[in-house]
Order: sequence, then structure tokens, then C-alpha cells
Amino acid sequence: MTVLTEEMQIAFKAVKVFPLATASKSGIPNVVPMASVFLIDEKTIWIGDNFMQKTLANVLENPKAALYVYGAGAKGCLQIKADVTVKTSGEEHAKMKAMIQEKKPNLPAKSLLILKITEVYECMPGTEAGKQIG
Ligand SMILES: Cc1cc2nc3c(=O)[nH]c(=O)nc-3n(C[C@H](O)[C@H](O)[C@H](O)COP(=O)(O)O)c2cc1C
Repeated sequence: MTVLTEEMQIAFKAVKVFPLATASKSGIPNVVPMASVFLIDEKTIWIGDNFMQKTLANVLENPKAALYVYGAGAKGCLQIKADVTVKTSGEEHAKMKAMIQEKKPNLPAKSLLILKITEVYECMPGTEAGKQIG
């Protein structure tokens, strides 16, 4: 099982906007900025769908995603790959909606993307770049 170490979790929580990459079943790539991103536990990320079009279509037909953790305040650079499940109702969906609308009541918080982390790679330049670290 792949988990984020405490140090990785600290870096994750310092980042405000994440580039989320998905691909269609035929392999057409797509990358978009995402801010409604929550680290739920050491192996689970939730992302709220407020305006997704291609991203949502992609994960419904090809349930894989990647993002990187890098930015001001975050130590290092992590590339994370994950399996994705989409929820449009239920307890987890309701919780995601409350988490988003607590800060921004106008956001629709439609679907919930649940990312289960499968792989983590180093992405800082240097001798360890590209190495699998989780
Ligand atoms: C800083 C920033 C943060 C964003 N956060 C989210 C988000 O958390 N959820 C969301 O659905 N859209 C978010 N968006 C909007 C999407 O990135 C945008 O609607 C994008 O066009 C969706 O593309 P797609 O059609 O490829 O899915 C954000 C945009 C910006 C600029």
C-alpha cells in the first residue's frame, strides 16, 4: 500500500493549487488547476468537482489521475499517481460539499473525486529525480 510520509503530507498541505492530469480512454491528456483538494488521510485525496468537464469525463472512462505537489511553502516536489472513484451522493459526498461550501457557499460541489494513491515519485531536479519513493 502506498502512503504519504508525514513530511510529504506537510508539503501537500502547504500547496494551494494542484495541477490535475487525467487522460481520455484513447489517451488524450488533460491538465487543469484544482484548489478544492483535501488530503483526507495518508493515502486518500478528495477533489471537489465545481466546474469539471473533460476531467470528469476522463476519470469516468479512465479512472486514473496524476498531480504534483510543488509550490511556495512546500518543501520538495512530489509526483503522485492515483486510482479515481467518482461519487455523486452519500456520506463522503455530503462531507466534501460541506467542506467546500463552508468557505465558498457559491461553489456547486457537484461530484467528489476520491483519489487512492498508487505511486509517489521524486520530482526535484537532481540525482534522485524520477525515483519512485512511495
Ligand atoms: C486556481 C484555480 C483553482 C481551481 N479549482 C477548481 C476546483 O477545485 N474544482 C473544479 O472543478 N474546478 C476548479 N477550477 C476550474 C477548472 O480548472 C476549470 O474549470 C477547467 O477548465 C476544467 O477543465 P476540464 O474541462 O478539462 O475539466 C480551478 C481553476 C483555477 C484557476
